[in-house]
Amino acid sequence: MTVIARRTILAGLASLGVASLARTGHAAAATLKAAAQARGLIWGAAVQQTQLRDDAEFAALVAQQCSSFTPEWEMKWASMEARRGQRNFARADAMVAFAKQHGLGVRGHALVWHRSVPDWASANLTWDAVAAHVEAMLKRYGGAPFAQWDVLNEVIEPQDGRDDGLRNSPFLKALGPDYIARTLTLARATAPNTKLYVNEYSLDYDSTIERARRDKLLRLIDSLKKANAPLDGIGIQAHLRIDRTPFSAEALRKFLAELAGRNVKIAITELDVREQNLELPTDERDRIVAAEVKRYLDVVLDEPAVTGITAWGLSDRYSWRTTPEMIAKGRRNRGLPFDETLAPKPFRDTILAALERARPR
Ligand code: XIL
Repeated sequence: MTVIARRTILAGLASLGVASLARTGHAAAATLKAAAQARGLIWGAAVQQTQLRDDAEFAALVAQQCSSFTPEWEMKWASMEARRGQRNFARADAMVAFAKQHGLGVRGHALVWHRSVPDWASANLTWDAVAAHVEAMLKRYGGAPFAQWDVLNEVIEPQDGRDDGLRNSPFLKALGPDYIARTLTLARATAPNTKLYVNEYSLDYDSTIERARRDKLLRLIDSLKKANAPLDGIGIQAHLRIDRTPFSAEALRKFLAELAGRNVKIAITELDVREQNLELPTDERDRIVAAEVKRYLDVVLDEPAVTGITAWGLSDRYSWRTTPEMIAKGRRNRGLPFDETLAPKPFRDTILAALERARPR
């Protein structure tokens, strides 16, 4: 297991131009971590093991700014068990070691997701294979520092035409609609102390499909509660976008209240912003992105059931939103709190202000 040596982190901090931090080892009051922890909130980011292993200054920024992180793909089924019964824990173990070394929490992600099923399993998907995966992962990663797990990811899809709005995924086809309750029940039995979440996307704007997704998600929660399935929280991915889709603060506030009213917590799990016009001046682009985030978080952090915010990346240096076409044009999507040189952007200032305004949990 490759664990980032503390001296490497300190060197990384120094290279960030925060030599004083490196010497004292005390995070500046203005870090996102300090602002979040002061209010009992999570502030995290999705990261990859190779980024923590190979990019010391980035690893230092993660340790300095985050109270939690989410393995971007290392704990997904297809990454974990490419060959049946041969689970590769090394990458995830190295990330857990980093978290423990720096006192960070981890959001486990994602045990059951239709876009990460090993080829051998998708050829003949059985409950035994799913159950073996869930048990193996949660026996190893079901305790500290895993406060929350995205047990199921993206199970809603109204466009698949089902009355219950469930995605017609390989899991649903092979196991029937109660696979969700069965998976949550097994997860609770295996890891009674970690909080179990269902994680969903496209719930943020006031479009027809997103209103439908909100309605179907609320119905799913009702059916899970009726079945006495253990569900602690809902992850809202919050992949925001600058494309003028209608946004209603009132409708979002109402939706969050309806979630909280069902006795579930809420985590913002994959916050980022997909830009629309990358040809604008950089400061204008950054202002537009920060304004989109502020509009959203001003509503979200007002909801007491919200446990925290995780961005899907910490720096534009590593973002799934930057496409090869953008790179070919010498562009990156600037939809994360820090830019590719790891300098803070207005997005970071917006998060900090939102956290500092938030009521303590
Ligand atoms: C994405 C990762 O960012 C990519 O690196 C990977 O190749 C595919 O998955 N919603 C999710 C995340 O729940 O798991 C996805 O992560 C992004 C969309």
